[in-house]
Amino acid sequence: MSNESSATTTLDTDRRVFDYMQGYLMCSLFAALESAGVLDDLAATGLRPSEVGSNKFLTTATFEYLAQRGVVSTDDGDRYRLTEFGRAVHADRGYLVWLTGGYGEALTAFADLLTDKQTFGKDIDRNVRWVAVGSAIIGKQDLWPHVADVVREFEFHHIADLGCGNGHYLISLCHEVGVAGMGVDISPDACAEAEREVSKAGLSDRIRIIEADAGNLKAVPGIDDIDLVITFFFLHEVLEHGYDVLVAYLRQIQESLPKGAHMLTAEVGPPEFDKDSPELFTPEYALTQALMEQKLLDEDGWRRAFTDAGFEVRQVIRPELPEARIILAKKPD
Ligand SMILES: C[S@@+](CC[C@H](N)C(=O)[O-])C[C@H]1O[C@@H](n2cnc3c(N)ncnc32)[C@H](O)[C@@H]1O
Repeated sequence: MSNESSATTTLDTDRRVFDYMQGYLMCSLFAALESAGVLDDLAATGLRPSEVGSNKFLTTATFEYLAQRGVVSTDDGDRYRLTEFGRAVHADRGYLVWLTGGYGEALTAFADLLTDKQTFGKDIDRNVRWVAVGSAIIGKQDLWPHVADVVREFEFHHIADLGCGNGHYLISLCHEVGVAGMGVDISPDACAEAEREVSKAGLSDRIRIIEADAGNLKAVPGIDDIDLVITFFFLHEVLEHGYDVLVAYLRQIQESLPKGAHMLTAEVGPPEFDKDSPELFTPEYALTQALMEQKLLDEDGWRRAFTDAGFEVRQVIRPELPEARIILAKKPD
């Protein structure tokens, strides 16, 4: 008879830490596949590992991992396709691309940022291109249908998109409503991405992209012809300098617009600590914005800021993007 004994431990499958590990890898892989330019092909036709990159070992291991986690499956040789679950994650990929592509480097260097060994904005920065691309994918799915409905209710001819990122709202508006516009962004990378998108959409004759600080409207040529200003996820960058600076900026916009002109904005509110329901997104959003020392305003705060600047708030919409608000304001007739 053997003296060996064996002990069996019951596994606790509720240990959330393993969900976080999975989430971290999932976020990194979706952002990597988007950045490698192959995610849309994976969604449309499926992919072989060799179509993703030349590192055979790692590309194969990546698809095996995604298959183990139920994101892809293969039934004909080595071509992998998204499963139903994979399609659901793909539809929401903008959030993953925005977080990992945009802020991944800063999150890796977080210890140095906490201790001031490195300074955000100087030694390390967000990747504005991937912030813009992620933001565009999120916007298309979770905001654009509401934006398209709102703009049908009034007339406009010239749009200025301040902090335009890759210009996707401007492009969609000019496309669907048949108007002209300008996109202004301070980031050369965002402007280059916007130029590419404008040209791809065949709208170079109707949309100008201007690399400038939209905080100084006087530096933006052609602003006097504008009758719709849009600012999507840009105004909190102005709020960074204080509520009074935000109101002064909105007043400057209000005064440069003709009577009856509109301003359309979208922003995410801060987390509500005393809420019963779980916060889906705002704590993560608030922490990334804290890298830039940016604070967030809730719906009442935005209503007050627009009103203090002389606008009438006409409509506030809650889109699918958690805790976001789309605000339509008008300069009185
Ligand atoms: C979160 S992104 C939003 C981009 C786009 N509006 C969207 O919703 O997809 C914010 C953008 O504002 C730009 N930005 C920040 N400060 C700016 C400034 N002072 N003037 C112009 N653009 C600015 C950033 O470069 C970035 O592209």
